Amino acid sequence: MDLIVARNRTDLLKARGDGPVALVPTMGALHEGHRSLIREARARAAQVVVSIFVNPLQFGPHEDFSRYPRTFDADLEVCEVEGVDVVFAPSAEDMYAPDRQVSVRAGEMGRIVEGAARPGHFDGMLTVVLKLFNLVRPDVAVFGQKDAQQLAMIRRMVADLDLDIEIIGAPTVREPDGLALSSRNRYLSAPDRQVALALSRALAAGAERATPSKVLAAARAVLDEAGPALDLDYLVLVDPATFAEVDESHSGAAVLAVAARVGATRLIDNVVVSLGR
Ligand code: PAJ
Repeated sequence: MDLIVARNRTDLLKARGDGPVALVPTMGALHEGHRSLIREARARAAQVVVSIFVNPLQFGPHEDFSRYPRTFDADLEVCEVEGVDVVFAPSAEDMYAPDRQVSVRAGEMGRIVEGAARPGHFDGMLTVVLKLFNLVRPDVAVFGQKDAQQLAMIRRMVADLDLDIEIIGAPTVREPDGLALSSRNRYLSAPDRQVALALSRALAAGAERATPSKVLAAARAVLDEAGPALDLDYLVLVDPATFAEVDESHSGAAVLAVAARVGATRLIDNVVVSLGR
């Protein structure tokens, strides 16, 4: 079947089949990480819908909304190759009525860690994801572990608002040298990219330790070596479901999450750590 490109909600309605649907929400500039989510979706439903929408609501006033990479033609080719059935790429006007009032609030969990660094980000992200869920009406939706707090917040929304959608978390896809794939990596100069490698190296070093203080110290040491070119925003060890920082007695899974600015580019990464082994 040929790829259908739905540019508005009317076209989307026409394109949606009657069988099980898997949704992969994206902001485009598709890379190998997005492709792995699409393959995950393919394996789970008869029809795969990929949404491509750079959501203005989840960008702060000083963030990169206007310069966020937009590579629509290349994205369509990726979707074609991956056997996507429908690309939903609405305009901002189609998504948001000028007189809109009601939106999703992420709650306290939306104001910690990444939410503390990006006020309003998770409110805007959850609002667009709920709208996409309502427009596409998927049975399954696939998100990357790369954005671990986003994934946790979406699971929270599905539980708190009684959404009947199965949420799948897919592993982070990395470059051979460890750098997590991101649409924002294309902003990095060659020297910046070298500095950025400290993020994944720090997480790998932390993941080898078994107590919270040792995990954090090992990761911090690697970040310190990167010097002033790496402007650390946070390094935290948190509960995977709540994103509350774990205490020294915590055992089992925790997420070691890092955010840093390299040049003008803000990068995030995380790894799941097993504590108390
Ligand atoms: P975007 O950054 O385009 O990411 C779309 C999906 O791809 C997210 O679920 C993200 O976690 C996943 N992803 C990104 N890099 C990945 C990698 N290296 N490996 C595996 N998965 C990866 O996240 C968003 O868009 C937006 O917030 C969105 C959910 C679409 C709402 O606007």
